[in-house]
Amino acid sequence: MAEIVGGFFTSHVPAIGGAIARGLQQDPYWSPFFDAWPPVRQWLAEKQPTTMVVFYNDHGLNFFLDKMPTFAVGAAASYDNADEGWGLPVFPSAQGNPELSWAIIEQLVEDEFDVTMCQKLFIDHAVTVPMALAWPEMNPAPIKIVPIAINTVQHPLPSAKRCLALGRSVAKALAKWDADERNVIAGTGGLSHQLDGERAGFMNPEYDMFCMDNLASNPELLTQHSVHKIVELAGTQGVEILNWIAARGAMGAKASEFSRVYHIPISNTAAAVMVLETEAAKAAQAKETAQPVHA
Ligand code: DHB
Ligand code: FE
Repeated sequence: MAEIVGGFFTSHVPAIGGAIARGLQQDPYWSPFFDAWPPVRQWLAEKQPTTMVVFYNDHGLNFFLDKMPTFAVGAAASYDNADEGWGLPVFPSAQGNPELSWAIIEQLVEDEFDVTMCQKLFIDHAVTVPMALAWPEMNPAPIKIVPIAINTVQHPLPSAKRCLALGRSVAKALAKWDADERNVIAGTGGLSHQLDGERAGFMNPEYDMFCMDNLASNPELLTQHSVHKIVELAGTQGVEILNWIAARGAMGAKASEFSRVYHIPISNTAAAVMVLETEAAKAAQAKETAQPVHA
């Protein structure tokens, strides 16, 4: 049976991709963010996930304002990146897992989510930058992905409650999926940031702390705010926290915090990286380490 090994959550600022391309990871500006990653990579190396469901938002590479699905699920065998206009190199394509994609789509539609099914989908920095951070030497990454894009761009946006429910429906699909695979969940974007308008540069550590403190143990608390309130608290683009909320839902009922790093600013963003573990994966690991070793 497929297993959920845990989840990682990260900001996806495009300039991080630029810093990778220019080898600036140890530069004093960048190192507080990049130093968050060796423990995450170590954790991934131990968990050895084979598939990744990644909740993100597209920033105009694939969907533009003329056509904006609320929830879009990739169902392709591979996903290409393309020139996004941030001066980033084009990242390698990511491998897909259509079988898992369709299992997720079936479950979501059964649970009355009217999703857009994408047998062709370009992935932008919200997927490629986190993958380059998680698997920097592997080019391409050794994992098959199911990208799920949530509209955090053009209002009306889905509510936080709806996003948590979407994630929980994905958790149901994963629990039913009868395959010998190990899934990691990813949520990208945030934390607080606003890129334009009167409040450009706005960040809110207090709200970010509230989100990080409750993500594992009580994600419902993050659904108390309307999307407009989240925009007020986190900034116009800080509403990308919806991707984290959906990803948390996909991890199942119980999760605990494994690690977190929070650093202000990276570009215009309060940058954060978190790893959460599922109770089931933790219990399995405890059993494994407790087992006597025979020569
Ligand atoms: C920035 C952050 C984002 O999440 C994004 O998609 C684009 C830019 C930034 O802080 O520069
Ligand atoms: Fe973004």
